[in-house]
Amino acid sequence: MSDRTPSQQAALERSAALEEQVLVAPGMFRVLTGDRPTGPLHIGHYLGTLANRVRLQDLGVEVIVLIADYQVMTDQQASRQLPATVRGVVADYLAAGIDPDRSTIFTHSAVPALNELVLPFLSLVSDAELHRNPTVKAETEATGRPPTGLMLTYPVHQAADILFCHANLVPVGLDQLPHLETTRLIARRFNERYANRSPLFPEPDALLTANPMLAGLDGRKMSKTRGNGIALHATEDQTAAMIRRAPTDSERRITYDPLTRPAVANLLDLLGAAIGKDPRHLADEIGNGGAGRLKQMLAEAVNELLRTLRRRRAELAEDISYLDSVLDTGNARARLLADQTLTKVHDLLGMTYANRTSHSRPSPGSPMLPNRAVGSGRTQGDAATGRDRIGRASAAQR
Ligand code: TRP
Repeated sequence: MSDRTPSQQAALERSAALEEQVLVAPGMFRVLTGDRPTGPLHIGHYLGTLANRVRLQDLGVEVIVLIADYQVMTDQQASRQLPATVRGVVADYLAAGIDPDRSTIFTHSAVPALNELVLPFLSLVSDAELHRNPTVKAETEATGRPPTGLMLTYPVHQAADILFCHANLVPVGLDQLPHLETTRLIARRFNERYANRSPLFPEPDALLTANPMLAGLDGRKMSKTRGNGIALHATEDQTAAMIRRAPTDSERRITYDPLTRPAVANLLDLLGAAIGKDPRHLADEIGNGGAGRLKQMLAEAVNELLRTLRRRRAELAEDISYLDSVLDTGNARARLLADQTLTKVHDLLGMTYANRTSHSRPSPGSPMLPNRAVGSGRTQGDAATGRDRIGRASAAQR
């Protein structure tokens, strides 16, 4: 990947500097990251971002993880399976080591004030700027249809995702940099226009991960719909079978040559990321062992890497009420942050007359919400103690 643009290069350098600051002063940072719940998370998610989120969390950085459910509405198939998919993604996160006592996991749909921020933010970008976004362009070309309003405004929604909680660090792949640029633009313009004296929003930085863009087993972008990524929850046999089916080429000797042998290079990239070795050295090591040996090593490496995660995930997947309680707690915290931010935005926009709290959730005792969630023990505050090894609440707590 030497064909980087100057702005990508600059982002990489800035990211490396931030990486050092994170080690020195983790408390200075709040990370917002997220996934669209289009299906179970796969090895690309794990190596690309999930392991890194856990690392940041364990360094002491505050990590907020969004399950971007409003952004799967364009995908009808995925929308129908939302409840199972969202719970599965929560299980993937927890199994990977996201700790709900320290980090926040929430969904768009549970945080109205976040979504409302999209309205003022839309006033800060032009139609032309929205159409210029490369990801929106690529999606449009891929589907062959003009973008819906939701698709077109996706980067603005993403700005709301990041700015609602004043996150200053966003771990992303190179492909997401244009989105982050839109977020920075919106933060800058909002501050200039409405909060000149003391800026409301930080301009968040990208934290580029070590393996930002791993391709799928077939060399194309890894995605659920293409079925070319190994799901985190797949069994060891399924993993080995998928890897055996991955395309290679007819040359026996393994070499690392992304341009002329992309399929082989891609498998070497995955193996290198899984065991933390340089793919070039791995190619030398395998040499005449050929694609068979490469695939065998890759299957072993992936299964080894995911063994503990998979065991934990199988246990978690059984406990739907626990998964829901994690989301309940995360959603409540996200609502708190979003309500605070929206109130400040309303102040700055001069929307300071009656009835300003209608966006916040009615209290449990209010007539809008009869008898629900009162004393159910599934809201904030029950999370601090009595966890078992995999971080689940003990039976007594549930
Ligand atoms: N765009 C991300 C993806 O497709 C998901 C996402 C939504 C996100 N909102 C975000 C990522 C905010 C980082 C920050 O995977």
